[in-house]
Amino acid sequence: MDKLIISGGGPLSGEVRIAGAKNAALPILAATLLADGPMTISNVPHLHDITTTMELLGRMGVHLSVDEKMHIEVNTDTIRDFYAPYELVKTMRASILVLGPLLARFGRAEVSLPGGCAIGSRPVNLHIDGLRAMGAEVEVRGGYIHASSKRLKAARLVLDVVTVTGTENLMMAAALADGETLIENAAREPEVVDLADCLNSMGARIRGAGTDLIRIEGVESLSGTNYEVMPDRIETGTYLVAAALTGGRILIRDTRPPLVDAVLHKLRESGAQIETGEDWISLDMKGGRPRSVDIHTAPYPAFPTDMQAQFMALNAVAEGVGMITETVFENRFMHVQEMQRMGADIRLEGNTAICRGVPRLNGAPVMATDLRASASLVLAGLVADGDTVVDRIYHIDRGYENIEEKLASLGARIQRMPS
Ligand code: EPU
Repeated sequence: MDKLIISGGGPLSGEVRIAGAKNAALPILAATLLADGPMTISNVPHLHDITTTMELLGRMGVHLSVDEKMHIEVNTDTIRDFYAPYELVKTMRASILVLGPLLARFGRAEVSLPGGCAIGSRPVNLHIDGLRAMGAEVEVRGGYIHASSKRLKAARLVLDVVTVTGTENLMMAAALADGETLIENAAREPEVVDLADCLNSMGARIRGAGTDLIRIEGVESLSGTNYEVMPDRIETGTYLVAAALTGGRILIRDTRPPLVDAVLHKLRESGAQIETGEDWISLDMKGGRPRSVDIHTAPYPAFPTDMQAQFMALNAVAEGVGMITETVFENRFMHVQEMQRMGADIRLEGNTAICRGVPRLNGAPVMATDLRASASLVLAGLVADGDTVVDRIYHIDRGYENIEEKLASLGARIQRMPS
């Protein structure tokens, strides 16, 4: 298993280009299952989760080709299986996103239940309940979701909990259902909007994406399209925090500032000078130490849970005491114990972490437990004396394109050690 070795140093400085959003590219790749005819997706990030999704579609018989710029062409005409096996789903929960499209277009699907996860129990009951309400027969047996239906029927779906992939799965299913489906208490995440825009450019009739009420008027069929994936807001935020906690300065390109409003707000509060243009963000800490910030994670447009761990690293070396409350997932503090091993002063009380900043951390061997936790440990390594060795970095390769090259280009001392 590869490791990353980070030798703590001074402020980062330079420019970084942001890749396409993982969490938009994944549902959009699943949406290709709805298209009659070929479809091309561009600005797809070069990540393990993308390769896994391509493998999943490929095993179903879907034809895929990729060029060196990560334009992916997908043609589902050759599909022969409607099956997502456990061995792939267990490595990537987002595989559940094929359930809605397979059922809506082909009338059947067999998808493994994702099982446990490092950040919480993460059930998929709302995906299943929604499809049942649309007339599907769904049975869970032998660890698999077995679903079948004639043409799905529109329904009024009221989601008990705001769920991102749940909203996406049901929106894709409803795009080919008979009548107008309403999704109430829908997730408002920008990735949901990107998926809706893509589906509309395939001929779907979706209104209200980005609000908590989405209306989907089902159509007979959808066609292929060319679609460019939105920039990754979590990658954007991660590099901003990397610059902020080292007292550095950075110019982020190929991003969209409104996507990270909540994050920019907290960075300003921590003392960063921030400027934005249409597709760029600059941040300057003027060499200073950040101030601690209080954070409460919640669904968009509030502060994203996917940026919580990175801000834990910032608070670990900030001036003052900061409180971070995680409300989306029940077990998303695995990075805290690892940061404590690096000398961070963090106390956990239920779903709140109270952190008193120290001027510097100490390098240590640490272990990554999930994608964003791994990123936070790399950030902590940037402000630690000595070497930090982050083990199990396959997590980071699932969601960050060339992280060590991008950080090295900003002046970080970071190396990958192959196993
Ligand atoms: N939930 C249920 N029942 C369901 C679905 C969700 O109770 O049927 C609960 C979950 O247990 C959780 C809450 O709802 O407590 C929110 O989970 P959600 O379904 O929104 O999460 P997700 O769709 O599985 C996506 C992202 C995650 C991100 C969350 C929250 C993708 C592929 N994944 O997951 O991204 O943390 O939304 O914003 O879009 C990451 O990129 O590192 C990552 C984990």
